[in-house]
Amino acid sequence: MNAISTVGSVANPSERPRLHIVFASTSGHTEYVVDTLINTLNLLVPDWEIEKSMAERTHPQDLLRGDLLLLASSTWNTWSVEGQLNPHMWELLQKEAKELDLAGKPSACVGLGDHRYFYTARAADRLQQYIETHRGRLILPTLKIVDEPYGQEDVVGDWAKQLLLATTRTSGV
Ligand SMILES: Cc1cc2nc3c(=O)[nH]c(=O)nc-3n(C[C@H](O)[C@H](O)[C@H](O)COP(=O)(O)O)c2cc1C
Repeated sequence: MNAISTVGSVANPSERPRLHIVFASTSGHTEYVVDTLINTLNLLVPDWEIEKSMAERTHPQDLLRGDLLLLASSTWNTWSVEGQLNPHMWELLQKEAKELDLAGKPSACVGLGDHRYFYTARAADRLQQYIETHRGRLILPTLKIVDEPYGQEDVVGDWAKQLLLATTRTSGV
């Protein structure tokens, strides 16, 4: 049977679709991307309820909140090793929520980085890996933003549209 699966209709048929964004940002680049995404979605789907939380204030169970989870992080050289998650996101995902079961939760990821590092924007891969190994369900390819996000608003806006499409796509169930 074919079913039209939207974020809202799958998980909470009677309520507004809820998107929970958990992000980690140091100089504000990731937060800027998240805010740009939220602004676009607010225009496209004003009925969505969108919540934004900083990784350092997020508890493991919070990752289960909402109908769709979005993780966003910049890339760091934590412990002098390039290509790592922002330390707050690392703490949340690799320590506190290490054993969390996402139980098929629809999810998406955004990773930032800088082309001057060999392991450019590797946070995107690490977030994706977390979702995949904790039984989350990635609903679209991860967005990578390389270098300053200022001037890349169109890329973020296009991805917001893809996110929206992915939540309304016909799924062969
Ligand atoms: C200490 C430090 C380490 C970084 N390490 C990497 C890295 O390994 N790979 C990469 O692509 N970018 C790296 N970057 C660049 C950041 O990921 C990039 O500037 C990002 O846009 C910062 O986003 P934020 O302000 O949200 O933290 C590093 C930046 C800093 C300050």
